[in-house]
This record gives sequence, structure tokens and C-alpha cells, in this order.
Amino acid sequence: IARAYHEKVISHYERPRNVGSLPKNDVDVGTGLVGAPACGDVMKLQIRVDEDGIISDVKFKTFGCGSAIASSSYMTERVKGLSLEEAGKIKNTEIAKELALPPVKLHCSMLAEDAIRSAIKDYRSKRVKLAESKQNNFIDVSRGTATTDTTATMLPSQ
Ligand code: FES
Repeated sequence: IARAYHEKVISHYERPRNVGSLPKNDVDVGTGLVGAPACGDVMKLQIRVDEDGIISDVKFKTFGCGSAIASSSYMTERVKGLSLEEAGKIKNTEIAKELALPPVKLHCSMLAEDAIRSAIKDYRSKRVKLAESKQNNFIDVSRGTATTDTTATMLPSQ
């Protein structure tokens, strides 16, 4: 007997939440772009992180099956308002359970787990680079070789 999809999957598939993109180059945006080797489907998930390290905005675009679209839509709702640590702990099994995905569709929820982790990693590596560039400017200034502080123009105004 063919098993009907759970209504939550259908709801997220038919009315996906938080579809779209955030400006990839913003210093407070992390982008995760991942693919599923099993089927070639692709998911992009982006987070914006506020000064307290809380995810304040999330957007996704998924080129894939209904379960992958539903998984990413669910993930965007799930991580909004969470810290990076909390968001990084979300497992695909939670998504699969919540959406009642059949075993053959487990890898679709894995894509959402990979995507949020990849977005967090991208955000963190941007912060490290920003800190390093500030450090370098400081060194340059102290040697008297820098005339302008370029980091000031990179930071959002308060
Ligand atoms: Fe590949 Fe769903 S079938 S992500």
C-alpha cells in the first residue's frame, strides 16, 4: 500500500517558509550550499546572526524533491531565534521524525542538517577573517604604514 505523505511535509512543500536569499557578502551572513550525492539535489541555506550570536533571519533555496524542500523549510523555522551552538546540534533524525519521512527519504533531511552546519561554518570563518584583518590593520597602523582603517567601513553602523 502506498503510504501517503504526512500532512506536515505537504504543508511545508506547498507553502515553504522563508524561501529566498540573503546578501552573501554581508559580514553577518553565513551561507551553506550542499548537495546530496544519492540524487544530486542541492540546498542553499543562509543565516543572519545578530550581535548576541543569535540567528535573526534565515532563508533557503532548494532544488530537489518535496521532502528536501519540506526539510529545509522546517529547518528555517526551527533555527530562527537559536544560538549557533543550539542550531548546530539539530539532527536530521529530528526533522525526519517531525515530518514523518519514510526511510528512503532520510537523506533528504540529511541535506538540511548539512546545510545549517555549513552555513554556521561559513559565518564563523568570516568572523575569523574579519578579526584577522582588524589585527593586521592594527599592526600596520602601529608600524605607521597604514593611512586608513578599512575595517571601519566593513562594519555595520550602530
Ligand atoms: Fe534527494 Fe530528496 S530525493 S534530496
